[in-house]
Amino acid sequence: MTLIVGILGSPRRKGNSDLLLDRALKAASDAGAEVRKVVLNELKLRPCQGCNDCHEDGECVQRDDLTLVYELLEQADAVIIASPIYFSGPSAQTKILIDRCQCLWVRNEKLDRYANAKRRRGAFIAVGGDEKAVFRHAVGEIRAFYSAIGLSYDGEILLPGVEGKGEVLSHPDTLAQAEALGRRLATSEPS
Ligand SMILES: Cc1cc2nc3c(=O)[nH]c(=O)nc-3n(C[C@H](O)[C@H](O)[C@H](O)COP(=O)(O)O)c2cc1C
Repeated sequence: MTLIVGILGSPRRKGNSDLLLDRALKAASDAGAEVRKVVLNELKLRPCQGCNDCHEDGECVQRDDLTLVYELLEQADAVIIASPIYFSGPSAQTKILIDRCQCLWVRNEKLDRYANAKRRRGAFIAVGGDEKAVFRHAVGEIRAFYSAIGLSYDGEILLPGVEGKGEVLSHPDTLAQAEALGRRLATSEPS
């Protein structure tokens, strides 16, 4: 069964990225996928300490809630990160995850452990309060992250102009896009 892992980078439950992610995951589930959701803000985790111990064996010396997330990221057929834009980049919660996945970059690029792994995909959902929200920095970072851990970048939904919690509910087209994204990741093969 296809496994889709959704990662929420917002601290706001039922906020805009959470609602979009839930739409995508529900559609994926309805289309037959197994879905798992990770709420970064509810995990016990520390940022990367830059010790570079993972350069030897691809293992992070920190044992915390991210240990399970590493497993999910390796098992997933598709990953969807959903984050608000904070100061033109992804949220701090999202950035901590990215940095802590240095060990997966080592497994992929230095230890070549994913050479025979299934092809995995990553999509990105981002929301910004500004009508002219700047997404390019966050998109660049997420693209680089997915590439580093062996996922192809496959789909994005970038919604500016939503500031208040739940404002996305007045954007039915974007909610439908999220559902279409979830369905597509659940039912189509990686290109
Ligand atoms: C600390 C902070 C920084 C923010 N920086 C930006 C920004 O640079 N650009 C922008 O368009 N919106 C910015 N916003 C607004 C959020 O992106 C917006 O409220 C978004 O809808 C929050 O998503 P959520 O409901 O998923 O948490 C910022 C909000 C906070 C709390």
